[in-house]
Amino acid sequence: MKIVSIVGARPQLVKLAPIASAFAETEHHHVIVHTGQHYDADMSDVFFSGLGIPQPDVHLGIGSGTHGAQTGRILGALDPVFEAEQPDWVLVYGDTNSTLAGALSAVKMHLPVAHLEAGLRSFNRRMPEEHNRVLTDHAADLLLAPTEEAMRHLATEGLARRSALVGDVMVDVCLQVRDAVVAAGDPPAGLPEGVDARTPYLLATLHRAENTDDPERLAALLDALAALPVPVALLAHPRLVARAAQHGLELERGAIRVGRPLPYAQMVAAVLGSTGVVTDSGGLQKEAYLLDRPCTTLRPETEWTETLADGWNHLVADPREIGVEAWTRIATRPAPDATRGTPYGDGRAARRVVEVLVERHPGKERR
Ligand code: UD1
Repeated sequence: MKIVSIVGARPQLVKLAPIASAFAETEHHHVIVHTGQHYDADMSDVFFSGLGIPQPDVHLGIGSGTHGAQTGRILGALDPVFEAEQPDWVLVYGDTNSTLAGALSAVKMHLPVAHLEAGLRSFNRRMPEEHNRVLTDHAADLLLAPTEEAMRHLATEGLARRSALVGDVMVDVCLQVRDAVVAAGDPPAGLPEGVDARTPYLLATLHRAENTDDPERLAALLDALAALPVPVALLAHPRLVARAAQHGLELERGAIRVGRPLPYAQMVAAVLGSTGVVTDSGGLQKEAYLLDRPCTTLRPETEWTETLADGWNHLVADPREIGVEAWTRIATRPAPDATRGTPYGDGRAARRVVEVLVERHPGKERR
């Protein structure tokens, strides 16, 4: 069987790592297509080298742009790739513009599409990611869901027959890397200057368009981070850096210490070294949960609702609405005593993905 994976943005490279390694154990032919949505070395290259992912077979070099331009360029560039490859499955990941373009291009060429991380919903129609995931789920032939909750959403939308519960491939990679980091025993590396890994610090990221693109909101979120009583290691995504510069906002202020995005293993080490995480990233919320650190999520809702149980994750839509004291208490709270279940699976999701792709292959005659 030939499978073409379409990836382009940082979180997709993390999900690709366990999938590529699961395929490497089989006789199947796995082709990697990188759209080039993320192109900075620390947003892309370090994930290939750090996670042992084979270099992409095809690189489309699309780069940045408005949603329409970026999605459209990927769509057009994929046609000849699919024409040449004629894969048995096109595998798309998550909820980015690369995901939607990959799915759309493939279905128009009558190629079977599987969506990894299907069924997640924020129910927030202002988020570009929400449109990407809903449209991709409804276009795809096979929906690989990470959780029971995702399966329920798919069933509600009439998609149960195309769905399969496989678990979350991010658990595969996160736990494997955690074990390696713990075994090596090294202190966290790559933290921003001014953050001492031997004393308490919070790890923060901020990149969602809803948080970065409105100058007033971004200023308020930065002020809230700056007011915290412990150093805040802010690993700045390129979108955050670009928007802050555009709005004339200084990132480094008060408790905030600004650093660059980290490679995956260093990120896991940085979470393990922290007392807690403050973020608007979906992946990091879950990594904090898997790594036993309390997380405060700067959004009104989360797709990963399982992390909210027992206070492991706490949503703060707008720190201004709850006041400095409540905000500080929430953001610096200790890890809960409660033990967690395993709502995201057992760390063997990628192998299950390969099995399901084999079982559910529609067969060329039925296309
Ligand atoms: C994208 C995804 C988002 C995902 C995130 C992870 C969409 C709609 N959004 O958001 O779901 O959580 O990736 O990072 O697909 N830039 C660089 N260098 C890079 C990449 C981006 O400088 O390597 C800058 C550009 O100025 C660009 C901006 O970041 O305009 C935003 O990049 P883009 O790919 O549009 O979306 P992200 O915000 O990264």
